[in-house]
Amino acid sequence: MQKKYKIGFLIIFFILFVACSGEEEHKEYVIGFSQCMTDDVWRQAMEVEMNIEASNHDNLTIHLRDAKEDNQLQIKHIQELIDRKVDVLVISPNESDFITPIATKAYRAGIPTIIVDRKINSEEYTSYIGGNSYEIGKRAGEYASSLLSSGSVILEIWGTKSTSPAQERHKGFIDGLDKTKNFLFIAKEGKWRKETAKSEASLIDDYSGIDLVYAHNDVMALGVRDVIAERDSSLISKIKILGVDGAFGKDAGLEAVADGRLDASFLYPTGGDQIIKVAMRIVNGEPVDKRYILNTALIDKPTAATLLMQSNQLINYQERIERQRENIKNILNQFSILRHSLSVILILMTVLIVFAIYIFFINQKIRKRNNQLRNKNIETEKQKEQLIALNEQIKEVTEQKVRFFMNVSHEVKTPLTLILNPLEKWIKNIPDSPLHTDLLRMKKNADRLTRVINQLLDFQKIENNKIQLDLSYKDIVSLAASVKSLFDGLAESKNIAYTFTSNQPMLNCWFDSDKIEKVLINLLSNAFKFTPEGGSVAMDVDSHGNTISISVKDNGTGIGAEKLPFVFDRFFSESDNNVTGTGLGLHLSREFITLHGGKISAQSIPNQQTIFHIELPIVKKVESEFEDDNNNSSFVVSELPDIGSVSTNEIINKKYDYTILVVEDDTEIRDYLVEELSENFTVIDAVNGTEALHILHDNNNVKLVLSDILMPEMNGFDLCSNIKSLPELSDIPIILLTALSEIDQQIYGIAEGADDYIQKPFQIDYVKIKIIRLLEERKKLQKKFMKTMQSGSPLISNEEGIISSDKQFLNKFVNQLENSYMNNDISIEKLSEILGVSRVHLHRKIKDITGLSPVDYLRNFRLVKAVKLLEQELYSISEIAYQTGFSSPAYFTKCFKDTFNMTPTEYLKGNIH
Ligand code: FRU
Repeated sequence: MQKKYKIGFLIIFFILFVACSGEEEHKEYVIGFSQCMTDDVWRQAMEVEMNIEASNHDNLTIHLRDAKEDNQLQIKHIQELIDRKVDVLVISPNESDFITPIATKAYRAGIPTIIVDRKINSEEYTSYIGGNSYEIGKRAGEYASSLLSSGSVILEIWGTKSTSPAQERHKGFIDGLDKTKNFLFIAKEGKWRKETAKSEASLIDDYSGIDLVYAHNDVMALGVRDVIAERDSSLISKIKILGVDGAFGKDAGLEAVADGRLDASFLYPTGGDQIIKVAMRIVNGEPVDKRYILNTALIDKPTAATLLMQSNQLINYQERIERQRENIKNILNQFSILRHSLSVILILMTVLIVFAIYIFFINQKIRKRNNQLRNKNIETEKQKEQLIALNEQIKEVTEQKVRFFMNVSHEVKTPLTLILNPLEKWIKNIPDSPLHTDLLRMKKNADRLTRVINQLLDFQKIENNKIQLDLSYKDIVSLAASVKSLFDGLAESKNIAYTFTSNQPMLNCWFDSDKIEKVLINLLSNAFKFTPEGGSVAMDVDSHGNTISISVKDNGTGIGAEKLPFVFDRFFSESDNNVTGTGLGLHLSREFITLHGGKISAQSIPNQQTIFHIELPIVKKVESEFEDDNNNSSFVVSELPDIGSVSTNEIINKKYDYTILVVEDDTEIRDYLVEELSENFTVIDAVNGTEALHILHDNNNVKLVLSDILMPEMNGFDLCSNIKSLPELSDIPIILLTALSEIDQQIYGIAEGADDYIQKPFQIDYVKIKIIRLLEERKKLQKKFMKTMQSGSPLISNEEGIISSDKQFLNKFVNQLENSYMNNDISIEKLSEILGVSRVHLHRKIKDITGLSPVDYLRNFRLVKAVKLLEQELYSISEIAYQTGFSSPAYFTKCFKDTFNMTPTEYLKGNIH
């Protein structure tokens, strides 16, 4: 790709180069011309001829220097031109002897040197260009001879005698004369100048004896003519006047011959054009001749006229050529502008193309980069997916670990129950035993272990956002005092000054007693952990305005300032102490307090004072709120269910005429339950739900089922659901005994028809009281129901204390029963569907309003209807059984007996007759 671009660039630069090189290669040449003088017509003609020729070359510049016939000035000029390193040096020497050294110096310096007109005394030059002055002289001599008779007098006007043309023109003249005619000579040196010639000619007194004047150039000839005319104008026509040069231009020789002022002239070409031609050959590296001798010719009157005409025409042509040249120059200028514009356009185009190529290249690069980025994105996406997958795996593994952790915790809870319950029993039964202290220590540590397990499970709930407040309206001062008293013994044994103060004797408000109790136990147990013997611990309760503050103070080891900000963080542990913990207690405390909308903080000056301070908002009961059933002015930690005025001991020490079925797969717990419950009830046991169902089918006396949830073959929920769906068993109350404490598990159980729950680890007395309470309540309800029935009202929708929305719901339910109680196959599922509520909701609602489950209520409803039919004495018992929706007369009889403690037949006998 890169190579492609490079080739592209090269092509563009080549095009540009060609475009720009369209302009001629403009090597400028300089011709340095040292002229001995410039103010005579012949040299002016030379300049014109040179310029005409030079105009054919636009790369040529002529630097003309006029020495004004001054040898020294000319030397100076030539030196300057040497220094300037002109391409060609043209010298027209003033006087040969003076100029020869500087001319040869130039030649030796490597500058091509052209000598014109007058010669130098050396052969060290490149070329000589000039007319043949000897030939001119000779022709003039011959011509003079033809005009003159023997013995004629000739006046010869010399050019500067030291110059070669003067010498050659004299010699040639002498040689050209007819020696036989014995001419007489007068000579004057006019030094090539008209004025000089005139003044020299003026020195001659008499011109009458002179027959011919031969001047070495035309201007001197005309000067002498002026002198003769001034002396005697009649002599003008007699004396023949000959000149040399024959140059064109005003007052020049050609014109003078044409108008008769001169008799003849001899052409001495300036060689102006030849100088330029030779110079160009030199600069172009072409060979040149050593000498260019220019031809001469006689110019008499007729020739002069023709030549003048020709030269005028030439001048005219030349002017036209000049004008054309000017036009061409303008056109060329315009063309040059266009060409430059084209160049600019080309450059711009090139820039554009380069820019386009650059953009293309950049675009390619961007595309490439984009592709790379896209690929990278795809890769990142893949990595992300991998990370998500990994995260899922980690989550799954973590969940597995958590499940494992929960299961282990539950597994620990169960044996703890089995340790704690016998322990409590022994502590109670053998207070005087020497083992009592050990038993108390065992109980204390088992309690501690229970707390740790509970902390772990609470932590788990918090982490899963499953913890909720279970608010009740209670006396919080009483709770604090109760918790405080739990540590009285410990304080005594550690000789710790332990106090409790409250600015109010009691304060009823809404709070989750279980959680606040845990927080206070945690704070006090920490205080005792870190306070050495002889120290002090205090709990102070202070209510002010809408806030209650509880602070726990100690003067123990405390917490260092660097650790204090992290004291409520998860897994914080004061490891400097030799006392260890889960590091969860304070974290859970803060979570529980935050759930209540409160704050907990810690301050500590190690070994002086450590304070944990709780602030809770006080939420008071409003008038319209229900009275809480469990509301007690005095608080009992881990209270047992209340069963009225009879004391707990009295209740659990009695023997009851109930048969209880215990369903539990764990042999140890099952045996323990059977053993303990056998003190009060007749107990049958089963290892799982399947076995329990068999027993229930065979044994009609079972009054309550106490079942574990997690069991092989058939679990507690399925057993529950089976019992409640079988009409002949559905009236048996079920208590689920489980280590699963999650609220949704409980809901699920209730949905399956469970009547109550007991969480593991349990206190056996608590279990006993729950069973007794449930069965006794049933008995009470049956009695009440009997009364209701006897009063002739089958429905209990008019019960006092039932709020109107509940009445409405109950009436709807009763109306549905009215429509469907005769059908044997009506189920609670169908009824909840018709009423548009869930089975769980229906169960809870009916149970809350009537104290009976929907199944029990339906059965009692049918029994009330049956009683009414019995009293009419129109149908047999079998007919009544089917008419009221019972599946069989036998089942009807069983239910009737269970409810009224008599058979339908006995009822007929007793009530009708
Ligand atoms: C001009 C001139 C010409 C003559 C030549 C000789 O200056 O006098 O008339 O032919 O020089 O060098």
